[in-house]
Order: sequence, then structure tokens, then C-alpha cells
Amino acid sequence: MTVKHLLKMSDLTQDDIMEILALADQMKFNQQHKLSHRVLEGKTLGMIFTKASTRTRVSFEAGMFQLGGHAICLTSADAQFGRGEPVEDTANVMSRYVDGVMIRTFAQKDVEDFARYGNIPVINGLTDDEHPCQILADLMTVREHLATLAGLTACWVGDGNNVCCSLISGALTCGMKIRVACPEGYEPRAEILETARKNPDFALLRDPREAAEGANVVFTDVFASMGQEGDAQKRLRDFAGYQINWELLSLCAKNVIVQHCLPAHRGEEITAEAFAAHAKEIYDETENRLHVQKAVMALLMGEQD
Ligand code: CP
Ligand code: NVA
Repeated sequence: MTVKHLLKMSDLTQDDIMEILALADQMKFNQQHKLSHRVLEGKTLGMIFTKASTRTRVSFEAGMFQLGGHAICLTSADAQFGRGEPVEDTANVMSRYVDGVMIRTFAQKDVEDFARYGNIPVINGLTDDEHPCQILADLMTVREHLATLAGLTACWVGDGNNVCCSLISGALTCGMKIRVACPEGYEPRAEILETARKNPDFALLRDPREAAEGANVVFTDVFASMGQEGDAQKRLRDFAGYQINWELLSLCAKNVIVQHCLPAHRGEEITAEAFAAHAKEIYDETENRLHVQKAVMALLMGEQD
């Protein structure tokens, strides 16, 4: 790995991603065959949550246990950072107790500051800007279902949010084409667009139908992310037409797969019928969070040969 932390998707090279996915495949094989893989024996992961989570919380904690280690979960409700203790102090303190930390929070800067002030690996478990663990799981799932990544056409329909931004970086790094269809005002963040626009494999579109044409994978996510709940009604109106449904899927490649990071709002960004028809891929995507995160923890927190 060329990095000491997993802060954002664009920090990873193609080789880094391939190394993570190869180890994740191995982790999955080992688990399916009941082979132990206790490479983090005696190690502890600290988990910081200032936003809600089901998948991230459970998959990191279960993953750490399966690797022979232990995980401690801290939330704003029960830790001093919830009462304003600075990131600098939290990072210094946690570095003296645990071997790595996973952080889910609002500001990307907090995750980056934690990495700067502490001296343990930091894994971004979702910020307002990025969700790299999700995209590593998605890439693993796409490769499992379609046998390759390079050359495939991915399509994102909806908000240019954290998941979308990590997807753009990850897909382009892996040689995929990526078309993003979002309403005006909901584009991916400027820094991501600036880099992506230099790549002919990237297109930013308004029309979801144009984005879906012949696509091998279609991605979506909720219209209102955590922290945007107050905007939910306006967003429902603004995102009208940005939905994964039969009509949109009929424009895609025959064996198209659907990816949704979950939680899903059926009837909003995806119809109940489209979700049900593609539930296998979506739940595989969920499962693969466990395997890629175990790979990331082993690579960042394990003893290197
Ligand atoms: N996809 C995802 O990160 O889910 P949680 O919010 O449940 O962790
Ligand atoms: N974009 C969503 C993803 C949740 C996993 C959010 O940030 O709430």
C-alpha cells in the first residue's frame, strides 16, 4: 500500500485498490471455508461515530473480531468529543490506547486532522465528502458479478454526494467509464469534478436516460444524506425523475447490475420492484463491506513482512 491511512478514494493508486480487493477476495474465501485469518491478534480498533450507522458499525466490529482483534465504539453521546474536545487531543489520546481508528463524521477535515495529529492508521468510515470503504466494497462486488472492472461503463443517478465522489475517483482509477446524472445544483464537489473532467472516461450529464444507455452498473443513493434531513422535501422535488426503475434499467446493458449503499428509500431513488429484482447484488455489496474493510485493516494495521 502506498498510503498509511484511508482518508479518501483518490489517495489510492490502482495497485492499492487491486491489493485491497485481492486480499478481500481471500478474506471472503477464508470465511466461507471457515479458515481463520487472525492477523490482528491483540490489536484494537477505535470507532468514532458522530452520525448513525448500521452496516459500518457492525461490519467493522465483526471484522475486527474475526481478525483476532477487538473494537471499541465511541459515539458523540458518550465520548468527550461530543462535548467539544478538540480533534488534536482525541487523536493524541487514542493513539496511546489503540492500533487504528475508524471515523464516521461530518467534516472531511476532522478525519484528516486526526491522521495529522495522531500516529495510528485512520480509516474514513464516511464523511460529508467521501465514503471510500463503500466504494471498495462496490468495486469488489462489480468485479465478482461482471468479472472485470476496466472497460465497464458505470452510471450514477442522483445526488453528487459523498458516495458519488468516491465512486468517480475509484471507477476512473480502475479504468471504468463513469457517467453521472444529477440535477443542477447537486453536482459532485468541485475538486472531484476538476480532476475527473480531464479524463475522457468521465461525463457529467443532466439526463438519467442518457447516462444509463448501455451501462453495465447503475448506482444510486438517497436524495437527502445524513445532515440534510431538513432539506428532504425540497430534495424530493428537485430529484423527480432521478430514479432507478424498469424504464431506466431497460436502457442499460442486458446483464446490468444495481448497486445501492443502503439504507434505501423505496419509491424515491429506486422503485421497490427494481430493488427486489437486484437485491442479490445489493446485499452482496453490503456483505463485501465486511471483507474489504478486513483487508484494509489488515493492510494498514497488521505487521508488514
Ligand atoms: N452504507 C453504509 O455506510 O451504511 P450505514 O450507514 O448503515 O453504515
Ligand atoms: N450519502 C449517504 C450515505 C449513507 C451510507 C449519507 O451520507 O447519509
